[in-house]
Amino acid sequence: MQAAVALLKEKPDYTWVGIYLLDGNELVLGPYLGKPSPHTRIPLGRGICGAAATEKQTIIVDDVNADPRYLACSIETQSEIVAPIMLNGVVLGEIDIDSDRRAAFGADDRALVEAIAAMLAPKLAEAQ
Ligand code: SME
Repeated sequence: MQAAVALLKEKPDYTWVGIYLLDGNELVLGPYLGKPSPHTRIPLGRGICGAAATEKQTIIVDDVNADPRYLACSIETQSEIVAPIMLNGVVLGEIDIDSDRRAAFGADDRALVEAIAAMLAPKLAEAQ
């Protein structure tokens, strides 16, 4: 997980990169790079993180300030991508990335983050 976070953090627009792990009905913050987040535990019903885990799909938000689900982590954040880490349809966790640039995440970013989530899934399942 640390290696995945470090790799993604190299991208210039990826201001905050972290992995949340699902623990019961809560997402618990694991390895991350960027400023400390106040959201170390997020109930499934809350935030863009909670929505991505509940809907079992990647969510891209071009303007976080226009999304009522958004839980603020940093005042500078403008856009966000959250991709669930799933194995056989079961959510194990997710990759969450914030950018200080509006609409920073497109199809290429989605493909990259989903590919890394797919690589992590069997390792997380094995570790659990
Ligand atoms: N913005 C997220 C909360 C986590 S912080 O970005 C690190 C959300 O809305 O779920």
